[in-house]
Amino acid sequence: MSENVTNTAATASDQATAPTIEIAAHAGTCYGVQRALDMALAAAPQAGESTQVHTLGPLIHNPIVVRELAEAGVGLAETLDDAASGTVIIRAHGVVPQVIDAAHDRGLTVVDATCPYVKKVHVAAERLVREGYHVVVVGEPGHPEVEGILGHAGDDALAVNSAAVVVSWAADANALSLKGKVGLVVQTTQTAQNLAEVVAAITPHVQELRVINTICAATSERQQAAATLANRCDCMVVVGGKNSGNTRRLAQICADACERTYHIEEASELDAAWFTDARHIGITAGASTPQEHIERAVTRIKELCR
Ligand code: F3S
Repeated sequence: MSENVTNTAATASDQATAPTIEIAAHAGTCYGVQRALDMALAAAPQAGESTQVHTLGPLIHNPIVVRELAEAGVGLAETLDDAASGTVIIRAHGVVPQVIDAAHDRGLTVVDATCPYVKKVHVAAERLVREGYHVVVVGEPGHPEVEGILGHAGDDALAVNSAAVVVSWAADANALSLKGKVGLVVQTTQTAQNLAEVVAAITPHVQELRVINTICAATSERQQAAATLANRCDCMVVVGGKNSGNTRRLAQICADACERTYHIEEASELDAAWFTDARHIGITAGASTPQEHIERAVTRIKELCR
């Protein structure tokens, strides 16, 4: 997949005594999130325009970005009822198709920023249903991306006796009475190991198992790069929303390898005391952290370490 942020350069300060600052090989916004941000900013009202522009739910799990979008004229609508007119932007996680239909019915302009990799999961789920498979989604129940996939797996997929089911772990799969033809798709942020365990649990019970591996590499690339860097650094800074699951997971991975790990949302939180005697400072950021936020953190660390 293409990546818009793969900053590998070690940035040594020109002062002999200053620590080395290094950004993880994969850090910050993934392709789909950056694309959604760009689409939202492109849809923002121009000066003097009175058009209402809203994202349907927070565009990404990063309060600073949500605030910056609001400053650019892109507001937040929790539901379609909050967006009476104008434009709604569908976030990278995607939605059930009925939401887009309802937005059109209300006369709203829809900017669909669903990540193309998530769209692939929708298309795969729809095809499996058409071909008579009982669809299983490996993922986190209730997650907006998973809800969107379910919505594409059949009209009644969100009903109590749903045709499609969500499985988080192998233990969940063992509890289901799956048989016949089962088709499996995967929430994009799942791990290959969890998928393998679920597949192993389902396989003995079904006549046919068709697995469409829809995992996106962005999450695992960031986690592996964070672990590699944290192992080499004596201080790690993780930049991104405290409400972002993938950023919190990066902070945990870094803390496991580097005791002096700090999770910040913005550069102003950085504290000079964190870097006392540090020789090698690592920086990483979740898939919902724009490149500028990483750059601001680097600049501030350089100032603090002067
Ligand atoms: Fe898309 Fe992968 Fe990011 S599915 S939103 S590029 S994590």
